Amino acid sequence: MRLPAGTVIAVDGPAAAGKGTLARRLAAELGLPYLDTGLLYRAVGRRVLDRGIDPQDARVAEAEARALTPEDLARGDLRGSLADMAASKVAAIPAVRAALLDFQRRFGAAQGAVLDGRDIGTVVFPEAQVKLFITASVAERARRRFLELTGRGVAADPAQVEAEIRDRDAQDANRPVAPTRRAPDAFEIDTTELNADETFHAALAFIRKKLDSA
Ligand code: DC
Repeated sequence: MRLPAGTVIAVDGPAAAGKGTLARRLAAELGLPYLDTGLLYRAVGRRVLDRGIDPQDARVAEAEARALTPEDLARGDLRGSLADMAASKVAAIPAVRAALLDFQRRFGAAQGAVLDGRDIGTVVFPEAQVKLFITASVAERARRRFLELTGRGVAADPAQVEAEIRDRDAQDANRPVAPTRRAPDAFEIDTTELNADETFHAALAFIRKKLDSA
């Protein structure tokens, strides 16, 4: 598929719905750069934890967001329940979001991109040519996260994994700034009953239709 220069594809949705898998595959298929914006919030959360400070501390979290380096994004400890919750907490702080906004916009504007997150289609790129909103039931997302953790050799308790997903959903969807929302013009794919291949093909069919009619 030939894309117009600078095409931005926004992939939003709650935790563990399959955004990352889909966004990475779309980027490879379409020859676009890919940015996992959750990683930015994870790295900020980690830097705050490294200082022994509560991730809800707005002043420290903003300073760490402004000091973020590419090396922070390559850390091996950005996944797991501590990093998940710290990311979600710093992500609720308006000054942290503001500090990370420019980087995301510059990344996407340079040559187009696929970006996944919570607010890409609503705040970061409200003008994105393509917006996808990826969801799945809480039980299915918890099942996937549990398999991902145990697959990496991390001990996990299914009930606790589900409780943490619910907590993070509530925190990300109910915060006043840039909450997880489907943009009115986003195409929603519920992946509860779909595998990664089916999700990818549904997304690709939508992108084709959308760009053909543009
Ligand atoms: O996508 P993820 O689970 O890696 O994101 C980690 C946290 O970062 C998530 O709980 C909410 C926050 N986040 C956000 O607020 N906005 C984004 N664009 C991406 C992530």
